[in-house]
Amino acid sequence: MSGTSASMTGKASPLGEEIVSRINRLAAISETADNLTRIFLTSEHRAAADLIMGWMGDAGMRAHLDAIGNVCGRYEGQRPGLPCLMLGSHYDTVRDAGKWDGPLGLIAAISCIADLNKRGRRLPFAIEVTGFADEEGVRFASTLLGSRAVAGTFDERALASKDEAGISLREALVQFGLDPDQIGKAARRRGELLAYLELHIEQGPVLESRDLPVGVVTAIAGATRLSARLTGMAGHAGTVPMALRRDALAGSAECISAIEQSCRSGGDGLVGTVGTIHVAPGATNVIPGQAHFTIDIRAPTDTHRNRAVAEIVRQIEAITKRRSLELQLDVTHENRTVPCAHWLKAQVAEAVAAEGYPVFELPSGAGHDGMAMADIADVAMLFVRCRGGLSHHPDEHVEPADVEAGARVLLRLIENFRPRDAAQ
Ligand code: GLV
Ligand code: MN
Ligand code: MN
Repeated sequence: MSGTSASMTGKASPLGEEIVSRINRLAAISETADNLTRIFLTSEHRAAADLIMGWMGDAGMRAHLDAIGNVCGRYEGQRPGLPCLMLGSHYDTVRDAGKWDGPLGLIAAISCIADLNKRGRRLPFAIEVTGFADEEGVRFASTLLGSRAVAGTFDERALASKDEAGISLREALVQFGLDPDQIGKAARRRGELLAYLELHIEQGPVLESRDLPVGVVTAIAGATRLSARLTGMAGHAGTVPMALRRDALAGSAECISAIEQSCRSGGDGLVGTVGTIHVAPGATNVIPGQAHFTIDIRAPTDTHRNRAVAEIVRQIEAITKRRSLELQLDVTHENRTVPCAHWLKAQVAEAVAAEGYPVFELPSGAGHDGMAMADIADVAMLFVRCRGGLSHHPDEHVEPADVEAGARVLLRLIENFRPRDAAQ
């Protein structure tokens, strides 16, 4: 057992201190002065990429930006060109975000490599760190665009999708300085990766409730996202009797209640969220003729989620039909539940135990880049406790001692990593 003293005493050592200070520097790069919002392919996103590439260079890595905006760094092994252990997380944020969701895993990985580099330590495999460009899916309807490009599953049709300002993904990539026709080149081959490993804050309250700084992830829950567009008839708020209205917002409100009710009564672990709604024309004295809202549904198993999505679609269709509203309902994102690979999870657990912590397993309800990476590599995740389980919120917080604990486990894991064949 070693390396526990800093986290046990609550004091961060230089590894944790460096990570926390970089998290703070990255968090200062925001579209808004008073909170943290760093959306895919904005100029702040670009400034963040440059900062991260600088840190990769300082850690002895070769760094570049790929064609979707992922920041890619490589630390060679005992000889050049070896297959790699890939580490990573994302550097985009939600709106009014916390500073740890994504950056903690990315920066911790870079700091671990900086530590190896300082000691002149080369391993029998290369290590790559990827800062994924779009995990949150805030700007365009789809999500995991960065990791899907790396996994070779990027759907070219996404290039035509538009953000709220009407800018297409293709145009945004060009504005960022990238060539959308080169996205295929970001794809990696299965044989190039030995595994994909991600450290991330838990984003939920389970570790805190168990008084544990770290946890071993068993699986990443699948998700379905839908977009619903309801069209009725706009009109004068003072003259059209209630019975003669086709109010798209009132219809949406009924749909949203039905979604909430369905998820409340739909069994353990089923969750549904309507996170955005836009109404047109949008005036106090005009009946809303159009409404557009998004739906996010998750459940512990794919069967459970698929059943819930089918039921919700049935209810939305029934409500809109009864209210004579036109409905356009599209699935904008779908990911199956991804189990973490047993052999890799066992190595995460070994490193946790070797650092002196109880091994505790838990599933991830949140989505992660590992969901896309699972198409080309076995994946595993290490969770770090966050205060109150709060995430996607500006008060998201990780104690420095827990940053240290997570980073120490990650470093040990890297140094003791055995590829699948050697591990079995
Ligand atoms: C990403 O944070 C997600 O789970 O939506
Ligand atoms: Mn995240
Ligand atoms: Mn997130």
